[in-house]
Amino acid sequence: KKEKFMKVNYFSRIGFILAVSGSAIGLGNIWKFPYMVGEMGGSAFVLVYLLTVALIGISLLIAEMVIGNYSRSDSITSFEKISRNNKTAWKFVGFSSFSGLLILTFYSVVIGWIFYYIIKSLTQNLSVSLTTSEEMFSGFLQNDILSQMFFHLISVLLICAIVYKGIKKGIETTNLLMMPLLFIIFLGLLFYSISLPTFGKAWHFLFDYDFAKIDSNTLLMAVGHSFFTLSIGMGAILTYSASSAKETNIFKDAVLVAFLDTAIALIAGLVIFTFLFGFTDKAAKGPGLVFISLPTAFAAMGAMGTLIAIFFFIALSFAAITSAISILEPSIKIATERYKIGRKKAIMIFGAIVYIIGLMALLSNSKDFSQILTFGSKNLFDWLDYLTTAILLPIGGIAISIFLGYFVPKEVLRNQLSRSMSTKVFDIWYFSIKFIAPIGVIFILLNESGLLG
Ligand code: TRP
Repeated sequence: KKEKFMKVNYFSRIGFILAVSGSAIGLGNIWKFPYMVGEMGGSAFVLVYLLTVALIGISLLIAEMVIGNYSRSDSITSFEKISRNNKTAWKFVGFSSFSGLLILTFYSVVIGWIFYYIIKSLTQNLSVSLTTSEEMFSGFLQNDILSQMFFHLISVLLICAIVYKGIKKGIETTNLLMMPLLFIIFLGLLFYSISLPTFGKAWHFLFDYDFAKIDSNTLLMAVGHSFFTLSIGMGAILTYSASSAKETNIFKDAVLVAFLDTAIALIAGLVIFTFLFGFTDKAAKGPGLVFISLPTAFAAMGAMGTLIAIFFFIALSFAAITSAISILEPSIKIATERYKIGRKKAIMIFGAIVYIIGLMALLSNSKDFSQILTFGSKNLFDWLDYLTTAILLPIGGIAISIFLGYFVPKEVLRNQLSRSMSTKVFDIWYFSIKFIAPIGVIFILLNESGLLG
């Protein structure tokens, strides 16, 4: 009986790959990546991001996978279980999973915006004029609090409903359905963009490297982003891996997921800037990119544009939903398995917390409440994003690499990974986990904080 239960609650092979890809591919790839590229001056940011994914990101992806696959527990229990000593101290790293709830607050707000834009596209309400488009978006954010609350509520309810159904029926099914559709839509968009005259310009914007533009802030943002986009640093991959088949080929899956994630980010960047450059010469900056500039480009393309807009926003919602569920599941797994709280109760509690903090985040963008919800240079919405992406995820990554590099016997790891890695590849990975990842990330954090002068 127990065996049957286990089977029911485990990912199939393809289910696991799609679920981890679904976690990785999200707003980070399609909403954030292109606007950060625009903001940070194009290709310099792309280069640093690609290097970090290759040098540190993949290693940490493997690290989380091996911890989860080996321990088969929630993230807190995992650290406790496999550490050689200091068990109590290390279990606190597992609490970083709760920082996921902070990510989910602004994440679910943006999913609400996407729902709003799916409706706008369906009813052909996108505007050719940049001014009108800008007014529509800022009007929605600054004045239309009720609609935003409504769409945010739908978003949180949907995420909670999927996670409530569990790994197999909820999370796997959703990913099996949404991820293939997302790939198809983005490949379609890519082929269409290649046929447009401005594709070359978008290509150069992303790939003509200009090293002079790399400064300490670009570094930190690119590193933070590579963690965010691969879902590492808070136990999401770890948690999914705890429900993967014991004989999963970790190395292969990690490389595949990193490849798919990077491919979708680059495709999204190419597609978005191709459409954009066809309409305006300036690479628009900031979070408004896919909600202000891109819609004008769609609207300018006529009937074809309407169709593309609908597909684009639906694909974006799929990407975001499959990520959001992976951000919530770690906390739910901790609550239900470690603290024996009922699944329904846990979801209701965390769902309510996410909704309320998310509500304050969306209010911090509004005219009426922005003043009381702005602290220093950023409003609450931007703080939540900055704090989690630039600070908490890198710290989580450092902790995980130090944990595996210094507090878990090397033999155990070699054993776990022998199925998927040759000794040589293992040694490279181990070196990266022991030295490159922690030292690199600590250096970048200190550098940005100004402590290194
Ligand atoms: N990777 C997702 C994105 O790019 C976001 C995400 C999902 C995430 N799960 C995570 C980020 C866990 C950090 C940690 O949009």
